Amino acid sequence: MIILKSKEQIENMREAGKILVAAHKEIRKLIRPGISTWEIDQFVDQFLAEHGATPEQKGYNGYEFATCASINDEICHGFPRKEPLKNGDIVTIDMVVNYKGWLADSAWSYGVGTISDEAARLLEVTKASLYKGIEQAVVGNRIGDISHAIQSYAEGLGYSVVRDFTGHGIGQSIHEDPHVPHYGPAGRGPRLKEGMVITIEPMINIGTYHDTMDDNNWTARTLDGKLSAQYEHTIAITADGPLILTNQDE
Ligand code: MF3
Ligand code: CO
Repeated sequence: MIILKSKEQIENMREAGKILVAAHKEIRKLIRPGISTWEIDQFVDQFLAEHGATPEQKGYNGYEFATCASINDEICHGFPRKEPLKNGDIVTIDMVVNYKGWLADSAWSYGVGTISDEAARLLEVTKASLYKGIEQAVVGNRIGDISHAIQSYAEGLGYSVVRDFTGHGIGQSIHEDPHVPHYGPAGRGPRLKEGMVITIEPMINIGTYHDTMDDNNWTARTLDGKLSAQYEHTIAITADGPLILTNQDE
């Protein structure tokens, strides 16, 4: 069942989104060779507390951290760890912020120090694929239109799209209906209505889209060990078009 949100509820989610964006902007400044994702996680925990918010991921299905930190070939749900980041790594920091009971979810990939041209291009294409999807998030379109736009863009440039993890509805809980796949045919799936709030969060790989699950039963990584990146926004479908609740550009 898709839970539609009122304008006021969307505003509440935007407040959560603003705190999340502020956290990402601080993370961008912190990321450099030598810092660990453990330290970033600690920072986020404290930053959210200072802003009257809580990390929704902590305790979610037994997950123990405020953030997911997925390095290089890790696709998603990497555990923050004490081992320092190295020059040339790429790392995706994903978090869900709860502010007064309403959630926002946004992942962002960062380069550590100086990264290869190949890695930089992956980040660029992955971010652009997210915005290709967002363009389709308009009343009257279907979920499949978002999926198709992302897949055709990324595959057209020779990249692959992860299939085992999707975007999702979000509101007062992390995962609501509908699923938002990042691949598949246009014109299929639920029709987009005013008041729907979803995440779009393409995970794009340099090599195969196939993934393998770590022994921790959380972390997915690429089967071929090549790089994976991810950008995610929380988006409200409004009469005026897609409203990015986790926008870093305003
Ligand atoms: N932020 C993740 C997503 O985009 C959800 C995290 S699940 C958790 O779907 F278990 F890591 F918390
Ligand atoms: Co997320």
